[in-house]
Amino acid sequence: MTPDAGNFVISRFFRTKSIEQCLADADRPEHRLKKSLTVWNLTALGIGAIIGTGIFVLVGTAIVGDAHRPGAGPGIVLSFVLSGLTCALAALCYAEFAAMIPVAGSAYTYSYATLGEFLAWLTGWNLILEYGVACVAVAIGWSGYFNNLLKLAGLDLPYWATNPPHWAGGPEGSIANFPAAIIVLLVTIILVIGIKESARATGYIVALKLAVILFFLAVGAPAVNPENWTPFMPQGFEGVRSAAAVIFFAYIGFDAVSTAAEEARNPQRDVPLGIIGSLAVCTVLYVSVAAVLTGLVPVSQIDIHAPVAEALSLVGYKWGAAVVAIGAVAGITSVLVVMMLGQIRVFFAMSRDRLLSPSLSVVHPRFGTPHRATILTGAAVAILASLFQIGDAADMTNIGTFFAFVLVCVGVMLLRYTRPNQPRPFRLPLMPLVPLLGMGACLYLMAGLPQVTWIRFVVWTIIGIVVYLVYGMKHSKLAAQISQR
Ligand code: ALA
Repeated sequence: MTPDAGNFVISRFFRTKSIEQCLADADRPEHRLKKSLTVWNLTALGIGAIIGTGIFVLVGTAIVGDAHRPGAGPGIVLSFVLSGLTCALAALCYAEFAAMIPVAGSAYTYSYATLGEFLAWLTGWNLILEYGVACVAVAIGWSGYFNNLLKLAGLDLPYWATNPPHWAGGPEGSIANFPAAIIVLLVTIILVIGIKESARATGYIVALKLAVILFFLAVGAPAVNPENWTPFMPQGFEGVRSAAAVIFFAYIGFDAVSTAAEEARNPQRDVPLGIIGSLAVCTVLYVSVAAVLTGLVPVSQIDIHAPVAEALSLVGYKWGAAVVAIGAVAGITSVLVVMMLGQIRVFFAMSRDRLLSPSLSVVHPRFGTPHRATILTGAAVAILASLFQIGDAADMTNIGTFFAFVLVCVGVMLLRYTRPNQPRPFRLPLMPLVPLLGMGACLYLMAGLPQVTWIRFVVWTIIGIVVYLVYGMKHSKLAAQISQR
C-alpha cells in the first residue's frame, strides 16, 4: 500500500460523526421518535429488560458449572456482586454518554462520535450479539419455563419439539425448540403492528416480576438450610469468576434505557437515574435470590432449566413453583420485547448512517414501525432460537457485550480530552479511575469465558470487518458528506 492509500484508509476508519450531527440526524422529521418517557418509565424499562433468563435460568449453570467451566456453588452470591460492580462502572460511562448524546443507537452512536467509524461499526456489530443473540438465549429460557409450566399442568410436550437438533448438541432424535421460535414470531408480529412496549404494559409486567421474586424470597427464606452454604466455593475463586461471566447476562439490559434516550422527556436527568436505579434494584434482588436459592437445596440438586421454580418444588412447595414459573414466563416475555426493540433500534441507527442497507430504516406507511428491520430480526432470532443451546447463545451475548462495554469506557475517556467543553449534564465521578476500572473488570471477566466462545467471537469479528470493507465503508453517509465538502 502506498503512503497515500494508507492515509486514505486510516482517515476513513477514524472519521467521526460530530455530536451535533448525531443530535441533528435524530431530529429530522422522518426519523423523529416521540419524547414521552419519564424517569419511572425509564427505570421500569430497565428492570423490564434486565430481570429475565439470567436470574430465572442461567443462574443454575452458573452455580453448578458445565463441561466448559467450573461452577460457583453458594459463592454465586459473590459472582453477582462482582458482575454487578462491573456493570455499575460501565453504567456510569453509559450515563455520561446517554445524557450528552440522547439519541437512539446507544454504544454504537457513542463510538461513532468518539472512536471513529470503524470502531463504531465494530461496536454495532457486537451490539447484534448483545441484543440479537441475547434474544436467542432469552427465547430458549422462555421455552424452558413454558414447558415447566405445562408439565405442572400435566401436559408434557415431546422432547423432540423442545430441544435443539442432535447436531447442535440436543438429544438424539430431537428436531428443534419450537416453543422458542413461536414466541419470537409472536413478538415480531406485535412489534410490526406497532403495539410498542406501552409504558403501562411494561409497568404491569415489571410489577409482576418483582412480586414473583419477592414471593420466592418470602417463601424460600424460612426453608433455607444454612448447611447448604458450605463449602462456600467448592471450585475455588475460579468458579466464582467464571460464574460471574455467565450471570453477567442477568444484568444485560440496563443500557436498553440508553437506547431509548431519544424518547425520554428529560433525558439529561432521567436517563442516568433510570440506568443506575434499575441496576441497583436488580443487584439487591439478585444477591438475595442467589443466597436463598443455594440455601434451599444442595448444589448437586440445582436444576439447570428452571432452577428457581424447581428449588421451591424440591422443598415441597409445588404451588410456589407454579407461581414462580408463571411470573418467569411473563417476565421473560417482557425482556424479549425490550431486547428485540433494542436490536431493531440499533439496526435503525446503523441504517440511518448507511452502514447497513437504507431499507432497514424505512418506516411502514400504515403501522409507522421499521417493519423490515423488525422482520429481519424476528426471523433470524426465531431460527437460531430453535437450533441453539442456551449456554452457547448466552456466552456469545456476554463476550460481545463485554467488548461493547470496553469500547464505551474508552470512548468516554477520549471524549473528555477531545471535547472537554461539551456540555455534560451528567459527569461520572473519579475520572479516569471509573472507566479504567470498568474496562479492567470487563476484560477480566471476558478472559474467564470458554475458549470456544473466544474462537466464535474472533470469527464473528472477522465477518464484521469484511462486511464493513465490502459495504459500509463505501455507502457510509458520513463519507458522502465529507466528500461533498
Ligand atoms: N438480562 C436479561 C435476562 O436476564 C437479558 O434475560
